[in-house]
Amino acid sequence: MASEQQRGAIPGVRYPIAIASGKGGVGKSTVAVNLAVALGATGAKVGLLDADIYGPSIPTMMGVHGAPRGDGEKIEPLDGFGIKLMSLGFLLPDNSPVIWRGPMVAGAIQQFLHDVAWGDLDYLLIDLPPGTGDAQLTLAQTIPLTGVVIVMTPQDVAIQIDQEMFRQLKVKVLGIIENMSYFICPHCHQSTEIFSRGGGRRASERLGVPFLGEIPLEEELRVGGDMGQPILIRSPESPTAGTYRKLAEALAERVKVETLAAPIIHIR
Ligand SMILES: Nc1ncnc2c1ncn2[C@@H]1O[C@H](COP(=O)(O)OP(=O)(O)OP(=O)(O)O)[C@@H](O)[C@H]1O
Ligand SMILES: [Mg+2]
Repeated sequence: MASEQQRGAIPGVRYPIAIASGKGGVGKSTVAVNLAVALGATGAKVGLLDADIYGPSIPTMMGVHGAPRGDGEKIEPLDGFGIKLMSLGFLLPDNSPVIWRGPMVAGAIQQFLHDVAWGDLDYLLIDLPPGTGDAQLTLAQTIPLTGVVIVMTPQDVAIQIDQEMFRQLKVKVLGIIENMSYFICPHCHQSTEIFSRGGGRRASERLGVPFLGEIPLEEELRVGGDMGQPILIRSPESPTAGTYRKLAEALAERVKVETLAAPIIHIR
């Protein structure tokens, strides 16, 4: 494990929170983007770091493109809907895939954490690539995380592996979010439980981890992702925007509880 010195906090950033899943394509980036905007709507200062070095998706999902400026020491994050953003996608000339060795991934993530002028933030959400690899390890060893939110689909059976990885990395699981819980028909607006909805809640009970909420499978979310329009911006009055507001509240509450609990753990 890294020493406490290596795990230096980012000055000014109160709650760095990773968004993770063992499996790819379950909706981590979608959750990270929409949750960031929902947290921002509560008045909190929010940043979003795209730690998916291999396949950055935050620029597209936030509809922000451009080259961040640097002053020789720090890189200025870009802004999307009031959220401070950093992604390798801003720094590459196009979205060409890059072949990275493990240490390069580690170096890029360390730089994104410590060499970006994040300023004062309440929350820094960190969108991880899938799996249990270099990005997860580097992140956990570079800064003290408030915790991780695990995103899963209803039938995900790998959730235990995700939890075990973060236990080994000594990162608190703040909660589970079930994405694609049920389908909302864009025509009749009826909801259909295509998968076995409730898998996230059951997993949270089995693993003794808080359950933060469930998000429907909805075309608007996918289209919003492709067009760079988070749901709170695209359809602020929609039920799903409301769902994200509730998720943001649930997460903020978890953070409050966890950070209040922290001194008691230290005293022991
Ligand atoms: N609730 C949802 N309803 C509809 N589409 C969704 C939903 N969640 C995610 N998607 C879509 O599914 C695709 C994968 O989502 P996303 O990129 O967020 O997953 P990911 O877990 O970050 O993937 P990766 O592991 O590749 O980083 C995207 O096209 C996204 O728009
Ligand atoms: Mg992603």
